[in-house]
Amino acid sequence: MIPARRVYIETYGCQMNVADSELMFGLLGREGYVRTEQPAEADVLLVNTCAVRDNAEQRVIGRVGELQRHKRAGGVLGVVGCMAQRLGPKLLEQVPRVDLVVGPDGYRNLAQLIDIAASGQRVADTEFRAWEHYEDVPPVREKGPTAFITVQRGCDYRCTFCIVPQTRGPERSRRLADVVGEVERLAGQGTSEVTLLGQTVNSYHDGEHDFADLLSAVGRVNGVRRVRFTSPYPTDFTPRVVEAMAITDAVCEHVHLPVQSGSNVVLRRMLRRYTRQRYLEVVAALRAAIPGITFSTDIIVGFPGETEAQFEETLSLVAEADFDDAYTFKYSLRDGTPAVRLPGHVADEVGSERLARLIDTVRRNARRKSLARVGEMHEVLVERRAKRGELMLARTRTNHLVLVDLPAQTVGEYHRVRLTGTTGSTFIGTVVTPALAVL
Ligand code: SAH
Ligand code: F3S
Repeated sequence: MIPARRVYIETYGCQMNVADSELMFGLLGREGYVRTEQPAEADVLLVNTCAVRDNAEQRVIGRVGELQRHKRAGGVLGVVGCMAQRLGPKLLEQVPRVDLVVGPDGYRNLAQLIDIAASGQRVADTEFRAWEHYEDVPPVREKGPTAFITVQRGCDYRCTFCIVPQTRGPERSRRLADVVGEVERLAGQGTSEVTLLGQTVNSYHDGEHDFADLLSAVGRVNGVRRVRFTSPYPTDFTPRVVEAMAITDAVCEHVHLPVQSGSNVVLRRMLRRYTRQRYLEVVAALRAAIPGITFSTDIIVGFPGETEAQFEETLSLVAEADFDDAYTFKYSLRDGTPAVRLPGHVADEVGSERLARLIDTVRRNARRKSLARVGEMHEVLVERRAKRGELMLARTRTNHLVLVDLPAQTVGEYHRVRLTGTTGSTFIGTVVTPALAVL
């Protein structure tokens, strides 16, 4: 008997890439592949990539160089995901040891393409398949209490800085019944928290049902105690969606709501479809409907033409929106995006200096909020052992991480804890009641 071929996948970028890698393990598993965590043992090495910023791509190029060492005779080294889609066959020219380049809509053919590459013919597949949902492919996930579920692929928005519409193609939503079926299967295996994924996830529409319907349906699944989603688009929070969030108990009190900038001039040039005021109205509507809700965001500094005064509007927005956390980025020019043509290049040192000031503002705001939370009681889900020490890492519904002194077998359990201290972002907590049964 021929031994099973072993595949190693390394994943970069967003949660959707994590979900896509799980999908690839599912697809290749059907073809008889087994998974390995050791590149040195693998027959097939895949790097699932991100193209959103240049530094993400540079890291991948570096990593591909390192992984070459592990490529054996007849083995295959492939680049998949958004960078593969963006560069396509050019990547084969630029990186001679890469055998295979496959974009996010091409995974169904992955095993076939690997066979072609293994026979010595280098291949690229970067076709968009707007119908592709991989509906029949059960993803192979790490077993655990939490799971990511892709409900929408692609993006129809055209933010001028963003390469995603070109790497992930047009927006399409999975059918509600299919998503619910997957959640039911996961819940049956002990998963109690699901995160629904899409680039503008709250614009979800399967032709019949909108995101409000999806939240209610997923929230009703037996065994599901927590529902999260990422990332929503500010103006897609219709009153129906806000109401569904408010009345669906499982929907957690946290929203990651990318704002990108606090300046209306910059927002317009980014082709974001809201003003600062409109964004703040959305935040206020969510706060009014969902007591205790917390917000995190994405912010870009140094977008073409951004002035010091406009940047300061972003700083003041951090305080005004009162974010609990923010992912902050220096603008990275992406070939093929509309922003390439915008005048007003911001010098790299200016961008770096703005980024440092923004991070400082975000941290100070988060720290002030965290200190004020010490003493609060929260329900936490124990996720895993903390990196150092004997403590376990747990998460509140509001998306705060709490270190708690619990035994390792409590993974997947819900406990009530009192927050007793904070580092400014992470909390220390003590358990105040025994484990709550899962529903
Ligand atoms: N709609 C997706 C956005 C994907 S990109 C989502 O909300 O998940 C994730 C984040 O990367 C964006 O919100 C933006 O803040 C940042 N980003 C995207 N393109 C960028 C660029 N060219 N330079 C810097 N940051 C960028
Ligand atoms: Fe990108 Fe804007 Fe879509 S950030 S993923 S084009 S909503």
